[in-house]
Amino acid sequence: MKSIIVLISGRGSNLGAILRAGLQAQVAAVISNRPDAAGLALARAADIATAVLDHREFDSREAFDAALAERIDTHVPALVVLAGFMRVLTAGFVDRYRGRMINIHPSLLPAFTGLDTHRRALDAGVRIHGCTVHFVTSDLDGGPIIAQAAVPVLPGDDEAALAARVLEQEHRLYPQAIRWFLEGRLTLAPNGRAQLAGAAEGAQSLINPLPDPAGV
Ligand code: GRF
Repeated sequence: MKSIIVLISGRGSNLGAILRAGLQAQVAAVISNRPDAAGLALARAADIATAVLDHREFDSREAFDAALAERIDTHVPALVVLAGFMRVLTAGFVDRYRGRMINIHPSLLPAFTGLDTHRRALDAGVRIHGCTVHFVTSDLDGGPIIAQAAVPVLPGDDEAALAARVLEQEHRLYPQAIRWFLEGRLTLAPNGRAQLAGAAEGAQSLINPLPDPAGV
């Protein structure tokens, strides 16, 4: 069975969705850069090996990333899954896992890269918001897009309400993208774009949770 490694820094709700998804893969380890990440408890409860590599104990990004790669590689994972892993990664680390490391970002990229995406979406007055799964490249939040899920921004939404609506879709989208990868259908093509085999163009890599968008 293929194995995957999940990297977290906090709550771990996407990790929880991945664990519940019944993937044909073993989550070989969950690694956090923060000792207090709540997601570690989720992993332990599921009998999954955990490790903490506290970035504050390293002199440089390079040293941290080297230790992280060493830890990851002991498991020979098919895929490295960033699930709320709040670290900027060095180019060397990113290159090492090119085409086999993915991330989920809480916006419809390329809009709202970086932090505070829900607040910025509200400030901008967008009517549609969502989340994106993408391959990781050294372009922060700019890697090739694999799949997106869209949600409406509703009158009266505050940051918490919008975040919750997006998070619900994250929990659907991320396990789906991981499943495609494990099935060998999802690859990073030589032209630098994510390629999903066996899918009608665009048909499966967009989730629109609204059955009737006109009815909003
Ligand atoms: C999610 O919103 C994800 O999109 C972003 O960080 C958050 C992590 O949440 N990258 P959780 O730790 O998975 O609950």
